[in-house]
Amino acid sequence: DFTADAKEKDKEILNVAHRGASGHAPEHTITSYKMGEKMHGDYIEIDLQMTKDGELIAMHDETLDRTTNGTGEVKDYTLKEIKELDAGSWFNEKYPDRAKGEYEGLQVPTLEEVFQTFGKNANYYIETKSPEVYPGMEQKLVEMVDKYSINKDKLLVQSFSSESLLKMNQIDPSIQLVQLMWYTSPATLTDAEVQSIKQYAMGIGPNSNMIDREYVQQAVQNGLEIHPYTVNEKEEMQKLIDWGVTGLFTNFPDLLHEVKKGK
Ligand code: G3P
Ligand code: CA
Repeated sequence: DFTADAKEKDKEILNVAHRGASGHAPEHTITSYKMGEKMHGDYIEIDLQMTKDGELIAMHDETLDRTTNGTGEVKDYTLKEIKELDAGSWFNEKYPDRAKGEYEGLQVPTLEEVFQTFGKNANYYIETKSPEVYPGMEQKLVEMVDKYSINKDKLLVQSFSSESLLKMNQIDPSIQLVQLMWYTSPATLTDAEVQSIKQYAMGIGPNSNMIDREYVQQAVQNGLEIHPYTVNEKEEMQKLIDWGVTGLFTNFPDLLHEVKKGK
């Protein structure tokens, strides 16, 4: 569960419930996060966006269109306006075979509500999304972490933006960071890159479909954690585990749990 001490689990592959159990329920809702916990996820993955009035909310896209019945950019709406939106019905329409009545009308959660729901000892894996669009996002994140006395040993902050991670590091060097990577062709990791990332981050998160065994080993042998995203098929999970990854982001934490149990 999310409050178990994932790092004490001795070299277990971290099961990161990507946007919650987002293969089963509408992503980034409290329902999806709770389901992630029930399905043996070790971490809740949370993408952050910021409202017009400076509130951090859990949402993947910069726009409301895909995952709510609203339209336009998150930054142009107040929290009150966003709270009026339905963040669940789109899922029922897109995935009729997984639809549930209870998903209708689910709200977009704030980071604060997520912390209130899961508490200070949950394992949170939080991404600063589009930090260039939201100046001050890192500061607000740290303030919220401090307000709820979130256990920093169990907190990971991730970003594609090294600038954002360096800012985090400056504001609070005790928070552990993961550098996300996006490759469009077969990936390599040079010694220089490893050394530069190790200055501020404890791990990397590459897209899973462009890496190979050598890439994974280069990270692991240099003491970096490696958590590829987003892996939804059991065969693919097993392959990456065999290569030596230390965690995986998945929309189906139940499937990763089965793979870990050898099922
Ligand atoms: O944070 C890991 C993975 O989620 C990065 O891609 O676009 O799903 O946030 P994205
Ligand atoms: Ca993410």
